[in-house]
Amino acid sequence: MRVLIVGGGAREHALAWRLSREDDVEVIGAPGNAGIASLGRVVAVDPTDAGQVVALAKEESADLVVVGPEAPLVAGVVDALRNEGIDAFGPDREAAQLEGSKIFSKEFMERHDIPTAGFSVFDDPDAATRYIEEANRPLVVKADGLAAGKGVIVASDAGEAVAGVDRIMRERAFGAAGDRVLIEECLVGQEVSYHVVSDGERFVALAPAQDHKRAFDGDRGPNTGGMGAYSPPPVVTADVEQKILDQVIEPTLRGMAEEGRPFRGALFVGLMIVDGEPMVLEYNTRFGDPECQTLVTRWKGSVLPLILGSAQGDFGGLAPSWEAPASLCVVLASGGYPGSYEKGKRIRGLEAAAAHPFVTVFHAGTALQGDDVVTSGGRVLSVTAIGETIDQAAERAYAAADEIEFEGKQLRRDIGWRARSR
Ligand code: AMP
Ligand code: GLY
Repeated sequence: MRVLIVGGGAREHALAWRLSREDDVEVIGAPGNAGIASLGRVVAVDPTDAGQVVALAKEESADLVVVGPEAPLVAGVVDALRNEGIDAFGPDREAAQLEGSKIFSKEFMERHDIPTAGFSVFDDPDAATRYIEEANRPLVVKADGLAAGKGVIVASDAGEAVAGVDRIMRERAFGAAGDRVLIEECLVGQEVSYHVVSDGERFVALAPAQDHKRAFDGDRGPNTGGMGAYSPPPVVTADVEQKILDQVIEPTLRGMAEEGRPFRGALFVGLMIVDGEPMVLEYNTRFGDPECQTLVTRWKGSVLPLILGSAQGDFGGLAPSWEAPASLCVVLASGGYPGSYEKGKRIRGLEAAAAHPFVTVFHAGTALQGDDVVTSGGRVLSVTAIGETIDQAAERAYAAADEIEFEGKQLRRDIGWRARSR
């Protein structure tokens, strides 16, 4: 079976790595990266250009297309593939609105009684500013549309919130994604990433995970795409998990089906656990990155029936099981990320790191330059280890991460701190 993987991050490398271990699976990266190139072939395409993706899938006679990132989903790449009779993993454009429009997702939660922070919607910056000044309490300002993870401002005071509105609505830093803003109550608690895979009707719950979004140790510094993750986080007790399933996952999938946009693909719910109660921060209509790296390395047995069943809209009877009790992923980033950074730095030590048992090194922003692997993005590598405990997975991941060198290498030393004994 030929599987085309759309995207080029560590998440896509992790999916390609896992799928390439299945019997008779051949993977093709579109556009991929240096890591995916080592598993199969890569072809340069624009992942958000449905025409290019469909043409490539046909040219390669792909049996299945797995779409990794959100932008192609929101752009309707899955719809275009299905129109041509090609099986595609991921939601169609209508279902991807759960991530593509934050206002749609909040109003959806309101319609279906799904717990989330209180909110107001504004299409006028003056009205938004007045609201913030009158509220005079911590608020979160969000651009409605996709903004590559940068359209959310968690404001500590009214000044910061107003500056957020100015940036989104007046300076139009995210273009049309900022036509409307959402202003939310600020929640305080622990964040958790909860993933399920659905075929539009049924779902399979994956293990919970926890991301580390801030750039620096101690959860300080600017927000990033994610500097590391681990699974499972202790805050998700059996009781909390049951509430997530009953209060969030079930009503979300039922609501989407009832509204005529059944959700197929990976649904990743970002939650704040506030005093043991799950509250939805956001929906993502794809796997998290770096959460995906921690999930696929723990997974036991074949993942293909799950991915293919979801793509075709019909699961068999599937129950996931976990090979490793714990996993942890450390992201190696370019110096300066998430701000500006240099590219083209030669990466050394990849083989030595990969030789560590229980460790897999997934590539994100890497490229081949002759025989060398060089940096080509902000997040460069995802060093992921499995273990009997989070402590053991952390020790293994950091030992391997320390083998890898490139100029400006930046990493957090405290990934998994909530679950580690030191
Ligand atoms: P989002 O893309 O909506 O998940 O927002 C990005 C990040 O902003 C989240 O991962 C949280 O850390 C933070 N955030 C979003 N909404 C809230 C909220 N209502 N209260 C507190 N923090 C939030
Ligand atoms: N790690 C967070 C995300 O993928 O959105």
